[in-house]
Amino acid sequence: MGRFDQKVVVVTGGTSGIGRAAALAFAREGAAVMIAGRNEERGSAVLREIEAAGGTAAFRSTDVSRAEAVDALVVETVRRFGRLDCAFNNAANLDAGTFKGTADFSETEFDRHLAQNLKSVWLCMKYELAQFLRQNTGGAIVNTSSVNGLGGAPHNALYAAAKAGVLGLTKSAALEYAGRGIRVNALVAGAFRTPMLEGVFSRLAPDNPVTAEEMYARQIPTGRVGRPEEAADVALWLCSDVASYVTGHSMIVDGGLTASMR
Ligand SMILES: NC(=O)c1ccc[n+]([C@@H]2O[C@H](COP(=O)([O-])OP(=O)(O)OC[C@H]3O[C@@H](n4cnc5c(N)ncnc54)[C@H](OP(=O)(O)O)[C@@H]3O)[C@@H](O)[C@H]2O)c1
Repeated sequence: MGRFDQKVVVVTGGTSGIGRAAALAFAREGAAVMIAGRNEERGSAVLREIEAAGGTAAFRSTDVSRAEAVDALVVETVRRFGRLDCAFNNAANLDAGTFKGTADFSETEFDRHLAQNLKSVWLCMKYELAQFLRQNTGGAIVNTSSVNGLGGAPHNALYAAAKAGVLGLTKSAALEYAGRGIRVNALVAGAFRTPMLEGVFSRLAPDNPVTAEEMYARQIPTGRVGRPEEAADVALWLCSDVASYVTGHSMIVDGGLTASMR
């Protein structure tokens, strides 16, 4: 018996990193998983991994910053698997071009970054919540934020703004839909070794990214960056029935990184 037997789950950003780990874990626990991301090759690879392990999944190429694509993702999930129970809205982009001073961004960069990392989460919730309400059987949503959304992030203001916005969206929706049996929580991620963070290490120390990881690890009380599975496990817990009384929560998963400031 798995915790997600008979459940249908959407995982955005399921083609890589934390989302991939979550898609694999949800499937291991019995869920039918709709994997969403833009990269067909990586999406198909995750799908094959799940199927090889005996799980049930589908992949849909989706740009979560586009309303019609997100609408179609939810429609296709229901067509394929009959319903929707949980969503892990986890996709995001850390565009290398957006590492700069706050005054140096163009309006186009602002719009693109916020569309990719904030509007995308709102769009996912918009169509997922509508489906939950149609079914009238409750539901659970987990949105991925970041410790950068809790405070300022020098030279990364747009990412910080988007991730802070994710917390506002999460808590507002949690308040609005709690009475309908729908829970909405945020996973506030610290540093996890994924292609996204490896990109940051390469940018900080192009000749030896390992030194950048060591620098990160020294700031983390647990002495290391996290494994994507350690973030995914928390997303699963928040989606599971064990967390039935948890909503509107921002669960910080950061190896203690921000504990001294909270
Ligand atoms: N790793 C960390 O240290 C860390 C720290 C704090 C927060 N986070 C957050 O954790 C989440 C997962 O990141 P990760 O570290 O696992 O990064 P990752 O390995 O780069 O994965 C990002 C995922 O998002 C997808 N994605 C990006 N833009 C998309 C779009 N417009 N439409 C659909 N899918 C899109 C990518 O898929 P495609 O390329 O296939 O589109 C990919 O699957 C993100 O929200 C990130 O901000 C990560």
